[in-house]
Amino acid sequence: MLSQQDLKQQAAEAALAYIEPLLTREAVIGVGTGSTADLFIDGLARYKTRFRGAVASSERSAQRLTALGILVLDLNEVATMPVYVDGADEINEQLHMLKGGGGALTREKIVASVAQTFVCIADESKLVQTLGRFPLPIEVLPLAREAVARVVQGLGGVPVLRKGFTTDNGNQILDVQGLSIVDPLGLEQRLNQVPGVVTNGLFAVRSADVALLATQQGIRQLKV
Ligand code: A5P
Repeated sequence: MLSQQDLKQQAAEAALAYIEPLLTREAVIGVGTGSTADLFIDGLARYKTRFRGAVASSERSAQRLTALGILVLDLNEVATMPVYVDGADEINEQLHMLKGGGGALTREKIVASVAQTFVCIADESKLVQTLGRFPLPIEVLPLAREAVARVVQGLGGVPVLRKGFTTDNGNQILDVQGLSIVDPLGLEQRLNQVPGVVTNGLFAVRSADVALLATQQGIRQLKV
């Protein structure tokens, strides 16, 4: 029986095999945040002479990449990247994701938006029928926290401030409990319109293109 850590490692290795044909001297790779992304970063170091560098979705991932000798570029220096690899807190069969458990949702969404292909890596426990059992993170400007919380309550959610946490962008996070997200695309767009919301953790407008899910029986690849 493989542990969750073993499964994450397998997902990371599957992503490395997936991106290997895309590596060129000019290629810049988009890199996500989280424990699964960390394993991907560690493996990426084996290929570091075969691509130009990486754009990181968090300070944490940038530090890990730098420590392994991988050049970290500012997104403003990069017009395109062949692939973005990241984990998820939940993913459904349509490859909509709920992300931001690590608090990096805003940069993740921005970096992913520039990549041609989004590869989601996770162990099979992240695959769900309906998103929302994991609390939905919303990054808010601090001054708008209570105003956003009231709107979220009106939508049936229970917002909880992530105490003692500040995002890489200097903002706060509301973790919203109690949502059964039957329309991820609609809810993502609805929340984006609330003044003071920087980003919400639904990735349905820009969903994953490929999911590499590690199971006890091996890697399950999902595509839409
Ligand atoms: C980071 O903000 C998140 O979006 C992560 O991608 C997500 O929390 C997955 O992390 P793990 O790989 O640690 O489960």
